[in-house]
Amino acid sequence: KKPAGAPDKALARPVTKVGVIGAGLMASQFALLFVRRLQVPVVITDLDQSRVDKGLGYIRDEIAALLAKGRISHDESNRLNALVSGTTDKADFADADWVIEAVFEELGVKQDVFAEIEKHISDTAVLATNTSSLSVEQIGAKLAHPERLVGFHFFNPVAVMPLIEVVNAPATSDETLATAMAVAAKLKKTAVITRDTPGFVVNRVLAKVLGEAMHAVDTGTSFEVMNRALDRFGLPMSPFELLELVGLKVGAHVLDTHHAAFPDRFFESANLHRLAEHGRIFDRDDKGKIKGFDKTAVKIV
Ligand code: 3HC
Repeated sequence: KKPAGAPDKALARPVTKVGVIGAGLMASQFALLFVRRLQVPVVITDLDQSRVDKGLGYIRDEIAALLAKGRISHDESNRLNALVSGTTDKADFADADWVIEAVFEELGVKQDVFAEIEKHISDTAVLATNTSSLSVEQIGAKLAHPERLVGFHFFNPVAVMPLIEVVNAPATSDETLATAMAVAAKLKKTAVITRDTPGFVVNRVLAKVLGEAMHAVDTGTSFEVMNRALDRFGLPMSPFELLELVGLKVGAHVLDTHHAAFPDRFFESANLHRLAEHGRIFDRDDKGKIKGFDKTAVKIV
């Protein structure tokens, strides 16, 4: 058993360059946060140049939006743009001392991504995974140095949600954990250290709420009733909006992972898989405002 509590802060390693693997929406959101709060070079990578360009485009658009809102100065905007870069060459990660991934939520994919990046980085670089519910220990199974891997789980929308779950896997060293805590503090987020259990802390609870909401729909309660009841009950957003926010495929994956780990306690939802394939739960207007539900993919059992 690992000791509870945060390790000695003095063990934290300096972070002078950040590498981000994956240039999707989640990765792009936290790449922006890293560059704003750490003010160090941030390099992002993905499978091909078009994905990298899309991620970089998102970051540069968000920097422009911050400038337009008067949140940052012209100098700051220029500095942030200069600090961010994209690459498809892993050699550009050689001098990164904090490397975080948010690639597809599949164990084999994450294992291979880390095993590959380990060939390019220094011995002291820390690796972090933003996995939402996979085992951090298993993600690190192909690493030569699994002690350098830690879970670092952000929540959507990254700029707004104050929490990061720092997952202390069995092999995670105190130096790695201390570095993760120091990074979270620099990002001005609240970090909680969690055990390496399915769903960690938040998704374990959220999977219950989302699973029960989907199960109610699967078994005949209308979307409209569920949505209105849970919205007016006072949740910040209804479970169905939340599923669209996190991504329907990610949401389905979270439910599946919990159902696989605890079949008697968590639901999986065939409708959620159908909706994920379909791509949406809601009908929206041009500005993204909800008009109603798109039920073409839904089957009631
Ligand atoms: N992206 C970026 N910023 C956003 C955003 C988005 N999708 N949605 C809202 N914001 C920003 C707004 O720009 C605004 O910023 P500003 O004050 O600087 O202008 C701020 O958030 C507040 O927005 P609103 O006034 O629209 O406020 P709301 O009261 O509607 O709150 C919300 C929006 C914060 C998203 C709120 O609905 C909420 O808390 N929802 C629940 C979110 C949640 O539970 N997230 C966790 C999902 S689980 C997860 O991510 C883990 C994964 O592993 C599955």
